[in-house]
Amino acid sequence: QKPAQKTVKDYIRTIPDFPHDGILFRDVTTLFADPRGFRMCVDQLLAPYAGMRIDKVVGLEARGFILGGAVAHQLSTGFVPVRKKGKLPGQTISQAYTLEYGEAVVEVHDDALQPGEAVLIVDDLLATGGTAEAGIRLIERLGARVVGCAFVVDLPDLGGRKKLEAMGMDVHALCAFEGL
Ligand code: PRP
Ligand code: MG
Repeated sequence: QKPAQKTVKDYIRTIPDFPHDGILFRDVTTLFADPRGFRMCVDQLLAPYAGMRIDKVVGLEARGFILGGAVAHQLSTGFVPVRKKGKLPGQTISQAYTLEYGEAVVEVHDDALQPGEAVLIVDDLLATGGTAEAGIRLIERLGARVVGCAFVVDLPDLGGRKKLEAMGMDVHALCAFEGL
């Protein structure tokens, strides 16, 4: 009898007490470093969107860049970065969002998306949904429309999926970790 094949979730490492005490950090670097794991993860992220019209993949800094670049290549679309404030050189629009402690701001180039373009958002992890919501707002402010939000990990107890679905979003996640 052959051993069961590893799933995407099996490649994710959990590191206790990072970045601070009591947090279980879901570390996707072990998934990305494995040739079979990385390919499986990229293939599964884009599978629901194969055959749909996607004009651009938007990746959320920082781990969303690694995944979004691979997904955009495979879908033969352009790639657009949503970056932390102050990193993009051209004219940008900004969106603030709430973090555990305080606020953060993300930006996108104001000419990176055209009105009516169909956009797929990609990031590694969905927790409270604050980061993804900020990305969605930026995309919609440029007149483009979000046709999907794809994540490797969902932390359902933090409510991000519910928040995005309440905004009318289609949320796709490859695995979930219960508990905080
Ligand atoms: C992490 C993760 C997601 C976000 C999810 O990024 O990569 O982008 O948090 O949390 P949320 O759903 O509560 O917004 P982080 O802000 O740590 O930045 P990084 O990706 O640049 O490391
Ligand atoms: Mg991130």
